Amino acid sequence: MLPSHFHFGVGTSSYQVEGAPHEGGKLPSIWDVYSHVPGHIKNGDTGDVAVDFYHRYKEDIALAKELGVDTFRFSLAWTRLVKEDGSVNLEGVAFYRSVLEEIHRQDLRPVITLYHWDLPQYLEDRGGWKERSILDAYLNYVSIVKEHLLDLCTDFLTFNEPQCFLYLGYQNLGHAPGKVYTFDEMMRAAHNVLMCHFKAQKLLKEGHPEVTVGFVNTMNGVIPENDDPQLWKAIQENFFKTPKGTKDFYTQSIYMDPLYLHHYPKEVEDYLREHNILEPGDLDLIKEGKDDTVYLNLYTSNHCYLDEKGQYHSERRPTKEKQGYLDWLIQEPETLYYTPKLIQERYHLPIVISENGDAVEDTLTPDGHVHDPRRSSYLLSYLHEMERAIDDGVDIRGYFYWSLCDNLEWSEGFGPRFGLIYIDYKNNLRRIKKDSFFDYHKFIRENR
Ligand code: BGC
Repeated sequence: MLPSHFHFGVGTSSYQVEGAPHEGGKLPSIWDVYSHVPGHIKNGDTGDVAVDFYHRYKEDIALAKELGVDTFRFSLAWTRLVKEDGSVNLEGVAFYRSVLEEIHRQDLRPVITLYHWDLPQYLEDRGGWKERSILDAYLNYVSIVKEHLLDLCTDFLTFNEPQCFLYLGYQNLGHAPGKVYTFDEMMRAAHNVLMCHFKAQKLLKEGHPEVTVGFVNTMNGVIPENDDPQLWKAIQENFFKTPKGTKDFYTQSIYMDPLYLHHYPKEVEDYLREHNILEPGDLDLIKEGKDDTVYLNLYTSNHCYLDEKGQYHSERRPTKEKQGYLDWLIQEPETLYYTPKLIQERYHLPIVISENGDAVEDTLTPDGHVHDPRRSSYLLSYLHEMERAIDDGVDIRGYFYWSLCDNLEWSEGFGPRFGLIYIDYKNNLRRIKKDSFFDYHKFIRENR
C-alpha cells in the first residue's frame, strides 16, 4: 500500500508541447534552430506547433485533473521569459502566470522544471554550457522567475537530466545543439550546470524556506541477475564510477555526489582543481546545498551479473523482437524496484520518480478509441514494483507518468507516443483519452 502522503503526477516540457515559437515575444532556443536543419528530426518534424499547449493549456490541465493526479509538472521556456539583453519579457510572464493560475484553479500542485533542454540560441552562440558566464545568464533567468512567479509556485526543479542534454547534445548524439565538446569542456559544462543549480537553489529559497528546489537525474537503472550479495556489492561499486572519457558522461556520481553527499568524487575534484575549473567558493556552495529529495527519471535498466571468473558485467538486455517504438525502451518493471533501492543505500534520502513511461505506436479505432494494453501493462507493472520497493523500506514519495499527452519526442519526432492522451495530429490536434488514462486513474483512486 502506498503511503497516504504519496504524490501522483504527470509531466510535460515546453519545447515538446507548447508550439507558438514566434508568439508572445519568444526568442529561438537551440531546439527551434536545430529542428529546422533537414535530417535532424525524423520526418522533418519540429516543435513549431507541437501539441499547441500554448493555446490549449486549459484543456490539458483540465484533463490532468480528470486523470486524478494531484501534481502537474511542466517546464518554462527560458526564451519566453528573458529578452536577449537580460530584461524580463512580460508577455512570457503573463502566459506562465495564466498556466499556473489554471493549475491552481483545477486544484493541482504545480512543479516547474526551469530547464528542460531549450537553451536560448544566443547563449549557445556564446559557447553554451562550457562557459562560466552561463551562470550569470541562468541566475538572471531564475531571478526573473522568482520575482514574477514565486507567488504561484513553490516547487522547482532546476535541471532535467543533464546526463542527457550534455551527453546527447554535446557529443553530437542526435540532440540540440549537435556540438562536440572535448572531455575538458564536458567537465566544465557539468560543473557549470551544478553551480547553476546550487546558486539557483540558494536564490529561490532566500526569504522563502517553504520553496523546494531539486534536480532531475536519469540513468539506466540496474537489474541484478540473482540475489547474490557479492553481485549487489559489485553493482554498488560500479554504478557510481566517475567519467574517464567523453563516452562516460551519461554518468551518475559526478552529479549525484555533489548534490546529495555535498562533495565531488575525489578524482573529479582533483581534475577540476588541476584544470583551473573550480572557482573560489564553489566547493562551499556544494557543501551548503539543500537537496533533500532525489528525483529520478527511470525507464529501463542494465542487467548486471558476475561471470564465472567473478568479473562484473552490466549491459542492456538484448531483445530480438522490437518491443515498442523506441529501441532503448524495453519494459523492465524491476527498474523501479532495484534502482531506487540502490540510490537510497548511497544517499539516504527520499526519492521521487519524476518520469517513467512508455512509447507505443498507438492507433485510433474507427469509433474513436485508443486501446493501448502495452502502455497499461507497463504503467501498472512499474507501479507494482515501485510499491514493492516501498514495502521493503525505500522511501519513495511520488510518481510522475511521462507524459500527459503525446508530444514531440525530440529527434524521434511525433512517431513515439508517450501520452496517456492521444493527439490526433491529422485532426486539429484533438485530444482522446487512451485506455491507459483510465487505468492510471483507477490505480490512483484505489491508492488514495
Ligand atoms: C525526457 C523527456 C523525454 C522522455 C522520453 C526523458 O529523458 O525528460 O523529455 O520525452 O525521457 O524519452
